[in-house]
Amino acid sequence: MAQAKTKTHNQLKADIAQLMADNRREKNGHIYTIPSRDTYPYQWLWDSCFHAIILSHIDPEIAKAELSSLASAQFKNGMIPHMIYWQRGDEITPFPVIKWGKRRTSSITQPPMLAIATWQVYQACGDKSFLRDMLPVIRRFHGYLRRQRDPRKSGLIGVVNPDESGEDNSPRYDQALHLDPHHDFQSNFKKRLRLVKNYKDARFMVKQHMDRKHWVRDVPMNSIFVASSRAAAQIAGELDNTLQQKRFTKHAEQTAAGMRLHMLEHDLFWSTMGYNQKKICVRTWALFAPLFAQVATPQEAEALRRIFYDEKTFATKYRIPSTSIDEPAFDPSGDWRGESWVGTNWRGPVWIGANWIMAKGLEKYGMDKERDILVRDSLRLIKKSGFREYYDPLTGKGHGARNFTWGGLLLDLL
Ligand code: GLC
Repeated sequence: MAQAKTKTHNQLKADIAQLMADNRREKNGHIYTIPSRDTYPYQWLWDSCFHAIILSHIDPEIAKAELSSLASAQFKNGMIPHMIYWQRGDEITPFPVIKWGKRRTSSITQPPMLAIATWQVYQACGDKSFLRDMLPVIRRFHGYLRRQRDPRKSGLIGVVNPDESGEDNSPRYDQALHLDPHHDFQSNFKKRLRLVKNYKDARFMVKQHMDRKHWVRDVPMNSIFVASSRAAAQIAGELDNTLQQKRFTKHAEQTAAGMRLHMLEHDLFWSTMGYNQKKICVRTWALFAPLFAQVATPQEAEALRRIFYDEKTFATKYRIPSTSIDEPAFDPSGDWRGESWVGTNWRGPVWIGANWIMAKGLEKYGMDKERDILVRDSLRLIKKSGFREYYDPLTGKGHGARNFTWGGLLLDLL
């Protein structure tokens, strides 16, 4: 029995290594991985951090190269863009062209997973010179987020566009975009394009853009920032840089305090919008993200354990749906309300990246039973439907991009 299990794990590892190799690209000495050969032709920020975590189990040297490629695209002001166009992607037809206003990259960012990925890669290779190279990049990136994305010093990092959260069409953004829960793909896309235009018109001056348009503080984004600040403190500590270590620890505490002050209600954390931090009470997987940052008390973690088993919200046949099944916006399928473009769907389907964040969070709270269920469900989805972008939480059917890399995170969970 144990032998059979090892065999399946070895097979899975071989399949993942193959997928990562097939999706690997190189340009001008920069090595990176594209999320999917048929749908996503560029390098993406949080995807690449996931890739580095996966590759830390396969080939730490390539994992280091993946993060160095990201670092090489950092803007002067410290921001790291969410897409880097190393090569043209026009051969992939359904990919929508968005003019972000920059030439070789997009002009927005994505969840700051960089320090977390860097620390994990270091655990695998023990290369201090890699840490030394990455620390200033992380310091400038976090500095940018704290300066530009939190102008009123609430401790919370804001996003200029839903795409920055990595969850392009999540219903957490419906209210801020003035959309009802049943709107269609085109109206959502149009609103997001308008935000891109407004941001360009404001010459990427975040505060100017925010004051007029869009200012959401998202729970996963901030949870990831707290966890990343802690990872950055570990990196600085490893390099005997006690001053930086203290600073990063303080930053983690400030954002954690901001989350508790502004986001918490009835034991759950909610994203907020506008300068008065109105809570957006839409139930999505984001409710579980504070575990990743360890900002929830044991009592709050208990509240999450309850909804983990609640069949009316999150206990689907395959966990965890990105949006609770009792939300009016819930849509478990790949075709978003009949739209044929393979647009991403965060309004119901299961995403393995989110499952990874939740599994890590549950681990931190000693909720091993729930963690194991989540890992088991992720594995069942991959066995049933292969490496897909996302999966129907009710049937396990795979949707969106094929040969999608995030399933490789299973290597880090098994
Ligand atoms: C989709 C996802 C986003 C991801 C990108 C590339 O847009 O919503 O999170 O980064 O695809 O995989």
